[in-house]
Amino acid sequence: MRVLFVGDVYGEDGVSFLAKNIDEIKKQYKINIVIVNGENASGGKGITKKIYKDFMKMGVSCITMGNHSFSNKEIDELLEDGSNICIPANYPANTKNGYITIKYNNETITVINLLGRVYMNIPLDCPFKKAKEIIDNVKSDYYIVDMHAEATSEKKALGYYLDGINGAVLGTHTHVPTCDEAILEKGTFYITDVGMTGPLDGVIGVEKELIIQKFLDGRQVKNVCAKGRMQLNAVVIDFDNKKISRINIKEK
Ligand SMILES: [Fe+2]
Ligand SMILES: [Fe+2]
Repeated sequence: MRVLFVGDVYGEDGVSFLAKNIDEIKKQYKINIVIVNGENASGGKGITKKIYKDFMKMGVSCITMGNHSFSNKEIDELLEDGSNICIPANYPANTKNGYITIKYNNETITVINLLGRVYMNIPLDCPFKKAKEIIDNVKSDYYIVDMHAEATSEKKALGYYLDGINGAVLGTHTHVPTCDEAILEKGTFYITDVGMTGPLDGVIGVEKELIIQKFLDGRQVKNVCAKGRMQLNAVVIDFDNKKISRINIKEK
């Protein structure tokens, strides 16, 4: 079983850049399942029905979200339709969309989405207890946990807390890839942050001049997706060969 997990796809240009590269990646790594974090796909905030369809055309099996889950109102319709989108399981009111189980041949892979609580300013249930609760109750051959969180410590701690599951704990949200991909002591795959897929020269996806100005004068700015060169950040989990590989593609 080989799983491709693509980090936060940012804006419509990020969606297009993924579309442009995904076939080659699938071929090169012999990918069976594709999972994408889509919380920023619509102009940096949320997801639309159109983008959902774009992901489906690319052969994506599951879309995870994050703190921008509800930033575009089309999410409500998408979730009601029984789509394969996960929103963080530890949102207190989330009773049915926190995880999804995919079948591939005779095996099952359960994808769980969680939000960290450090620096997140959202009322959330404990992601550690929620993860355990789901894993204890949902029998699956493999588990992929998207831990969408700001603090590296919270992600690392969750990795160790869940170490031993046949699966991976993958960090998202900071949009900056880390180079600490690893197999933990009891065999679980881990990375602190996969990184984003979208503009390379912005500040985590946003037009850099706007963010510089925000830091200079303290005023809120409207987020506008950066233009120009693109990047794609992802990981491949190869369960059979016990390997986690980073993919970092940057336009020159
Ligand atoms: Fe994000
Ligand atoms: Fe986020």
